[in-house]
Amino acid sequence: MSSPRLEPGSSALRVLVGVSGGIAAYKAVELVRLLKKEGHSVRCALTRAAGAFVTPLTLEVLSGHRVYQEEYLAGDGSGEELHITAAEWADVICVAPATAHTIARFANGLADDFLSTTVLAFDGPLVLAPAMHSIMWRQESVSANVARLRERGVTLVGPAVGPLASGDVGIGRMVEPAEILATINGLQEPGPLAGRRVLIAAGPTREALDPVRFISNRSSGKMGFALARAAVARGAAATLVAGPVSLPSPPGVERVDVTSAEEMAAAVRIAAPQADLIVMAAAVADFKPTSVRTSKIKKSEGGLDSIELERTEDILAGLRAIAPKAVIVGFAAETDDLLSNARSKRVGKDVDFIVANDVSRADIGFEGDHNEVTVVGGDTETRFERQSKSALAERLIDHVSRALVDRERQPA
Ligand code: PMT
Repeated sequence: MSSPRLEPGSSALRVLVGVSGGIAAYKAVELVRLLKKEGHSVRCALTRAAGAFVTPLTLEVLSGHRVYQEEYLAGDGSGEELHITAAEWADVICVAPATAHTIARFANGLADDFLSTTVLAFDGPLVLAPAMHSIMWRQESVSANVARLRERGVTLVGPAVGPLASGDVGIGRMVEPAEILATINGLQEPGPLAGRRVLIAAGPTREALDPVRFISNRSSGKMGFALARAAVARGAAATLVAGPVSLPSPPGVERVDVTSAEEMAAAVRIAAPQADLIVMAAAVADFKPTSVRTSKIKKSEGGLDSIELERTEDILAGLRAIAPKAVIVGFAAETDDLLSNARSKRVGKDVDFIVANDVSRADIGFEGDHNEVTVVGGDTETRFERQSKSALAERLIDHVSRALVDRERQPA
């Protein structure tokens, strides 16, 4: 099995998801959803038996393409050999779940249905997610088929140990879709950030007043999480220091959860020296209460009439000293004089780029799914028009990665 036929640097794959007839077929729906969310293109092929567990319509809606079924082996009247078309389209074929019967057909080169015929016509990477009862998984015949497939370079993900459809517990459970996604992502050509470590800080911080109350801001973490996802998609090892947000971790990211500015500073200080690229997208509190009460402040005490604040540590300003070779990117959340504030911040904090966004606008910045920024560098200022934070994150990572590559080319 050769590696994916990918344009160099492409971060998206064309994945043909084959579904065979096991109870775990319902998880194929989540796998298709995750693959699409990751930016991959997806088509599906259902075996006859799988049709009893999951409907073609569900997969058709999620993948955005008709689902290949048994009858397509006879063609669709267009004269096209659809199994050849499907095999030529796919960068990767992933069969999840892969039943013992399907594994046996692949191991023995059978081509008696659409999926096995397409697999036989495919010379790219094949990923199988086995699913069967433990007794079957341990059968000598199944072990021999699995060994033959592994010898040919087929990737098996799982099976996992856990509750089985029969109610027993043992090996044979299909792994979770997120694990299959991570395996498929790992098949991509090494991206421009392969071998690099990226540190992203995201979300707000919370500065406690008493055990109940705190000072915070409207950051949702979406911008930073999208940046971490984009870095991983380009092959980086990403550490995401996250303030209190309600977002799932992007697959493949090492997440460090923090609450206060002080905790965020400590977490960033630990990861920064190893980082090649650091992006401070977090909305770190500039101030915190000078004292935190151990019991809830009573309104009757008037303890909330005025709150004494002190400055927090400026994490961004301290990064150059602990990560002298890294490309350091700060953000600027401004409500006026956007570019002049960003330019002075970039110089004042000794960083390579400041990503400036106008947070007085309701349609970009905090909380929403869109942003519009100007990236202020040493000798460039690049505007990125309003777009989704996930699309913008891809472009921002590509933009600042070029500085990383240029820096690495400079003589030591
Ligand atoms: O999280 P979302 O809802 O998606 O919203 C995204 C965002 C609006 C939060 C993001 O795009 C953004 O602007 N993040 C920076 C917000 C911020 O704190 O900007 P600032 O101008 O106050 O801070 C300037 C820079 O210094 C930032 O990189 C910040 O991370 C950093 N900083 C600030 C204070 C502090 N004590 N230490 C810091 O490192």
